[in-house]
Amino acid sequence: MGDNICNGTHGKKALLSDSQLFEGQFEELVTELAERDLSDPALADALSRLREVLVYNSPGGKRNRGLSVIGSLRELLPPNQLTQDVVQRALLVGWCIELLQAFFLVADDIMDASVTRRGQPCWYKKDGIGLDAINDSFLLEGSIYRLLRRHCRDQPYYVHLLELFTETSFQTELGQALDLMTAPPGQVDLNRFTMERYKAIVKYKTAFYSFYLPVAAAMYIAGIKSEVEHNNAKHILLEMGEFFQIQDDYLDCYGDPAVTGKIGTDIQDNKCSWLVVTALEIMTPEQRAELEACYGRHDDASVEKVKSLYSTLQMPALYRKYEDESYQRLQKLIASHAQNLPHSVFHNFANKIYKRNK
Ligand code: IPE
Ligand code: MN
Ligand code: MN
Repeated sequence: MGDNICNGTHGKKALLSDSQLFEGQFEELVTELAERDLSDPALADALSRLREVLVYNSPGGKRNRGLSVIGSLRELLPPNQLTQDVVQRALLVGWCIELLQAFFLVADDIMDASVTRRGQPCWYKKDGIGLDAINDSFLLEGSIYRLLRRHCRDQPYYVHLLELFTETSFQTELGQALDLMTAPPGQVDLNRFTMERYKAIVKYKTAFYSFYLPVAAAMYIAGIKSEVEHNNAKHILLEMGEFFQIQDDYLDCYGDPAVTGKIGTDIQDNKCSWLVVTALEIMTPEQRAELEACYGRHDDASVEKVKSLYSTLQMPALYRKYEDESYQRLQKLIASHAQNLPHSVFHNFANKIYKRNK
């Protein structure tokens, strides 16, 4: 499974993994977007900027989202229907999800005042970029629809994919709005940080685009349009997405930046993180007063106080317990809700994210 035959440079047949095929498509896609598509010489400078933006903001990610389109499609279609054309198109749709992710991340890093992403400075932090990165994020988003049009316009699922991408983008933007409104700079109010609010934020800002989108795209490519099937898949995938963001919040504080490629900012940014919500549920009134005094501040001493409160409350142990329970819950959900869909679609995805450290 996942092997693809191609002619090597010496005429030998070589087997390429989906991941290799995926990376192999990137250069072609950049050339297509930045050179071939719009040939007006007046746009040369703008298109070379687009190339730069694509090249800087695409590498270094885990590619989970992009690769799960082809990964899921391989479980949904019999091998004889997985022609080279179908595979190439599924990889391209995967790239569209990676571009959507790049679009959100470029903007997210500005809004969260982040410093690094995927092991390099955030795009807006680069010399001479700054807030021009806002427009660069729009270029990344616009690239999605140019690629879809060029490669999928004649496919029966084209309109479904367009609606899926626009709907998912809007859901993510609503989630980001909730995330930002729940974290006003310099206005700490711990009463805002409820588990109910937390779940709404992460469902919209992360789960739809990271989990439902790639699998739903594969389902549409495979000709599965039934609302019932899509809702079943959504039910499982949104649960997975919630867990994934809880991990992201945990890693913001406890991850190794050399591994995650990013330096945490949730405490400084006054974020409604799983850590603060969970800690609030178990802390004493005295600890709450202390947290009130040091959360959402940028000085190192305040950040350290929050972190030491987290250790006193045994947050890493609580997180591991949550992770195990969540994994069990997800297995049950797959057994009860996958219905006509192959369970492997969900198991493959789950196996990529549980116990991750990046
Ligand atoms: C942002 O969530 C989700 C989107 C980009 C839509 P976070 O703000 O927690 O993401 P990181 O931690 O900066 O990657
Ligand atoms: Mn962020
Ligand atoms: Mn985060």
